[in-house]
Amino acid sequence: MKRAVYPGSFDPVTFGHIDIIRRSADLVDELVVGVLQNNNKNPLFSVQERVNILLDVTKDMKNVRVEAFSGLSIDFVKKCDAQFLVRGLRAITDFDYELQMAQTNRIMSRDIDTIFLTTSLEYAYLSSSTVKEVAYYGGDISKFVPKEVVRAISQKLNIQKKSD
Ligand code: PNS
Repeated sequence: MKRAVYPGSFDPVTFGHIDIIRRSADLVDELVVGVLQNNNKNPLFSVQERVNILLDVTKDMKNVRVEAFSGLSIDFVKKCDAQFLVRGLRAITDFDYELQMAQTNRIMSRDIDTIFLTTSLEYAYLSSSTVKEVAYYGGDISKFVPKEVVRAISQKLNIQKKSD
């Protein structure tokens, strides 16, 4: 059984992430999307909210599982009994960090390989933080994220603005 883990913050999931999920799921028997819990980036969405959104947007992908994890990604990959860790590469600016992470992970576990997929060109500019910023200032994010995320962000920001 070929299994891969795609770890990330997914705060929130974008069309770029979904593109990587769909394409990497085609390469393996099972893909586990790992949603990082111990995130010091002060996420907009709780880990459970991020998992729920991902479950919703991947419900048509039969070999995709979504799980929260904390700690090291490589430990989660081992726990899932997976052989591959998937990451998307948007541009050269991602490369330094991703290479460092892949090499460190490779030292920590020789049995697990990182697979990089190049992000499809139409999503190469896209990041979760840009989406949050555009949404925060009232911009239209429907070209960047699925409708489930548009709805969730607008609810979240309405709640935040009311409590400010
Ligand atoms: O979606 P992101 O924020 O780019 O994902 C980054 C992520 C979650 C893959 C990375 O921060 C990570 O693996 N964090 C868990 C701790 C860890 O394993 N760090 C890397 C050691 S080389």
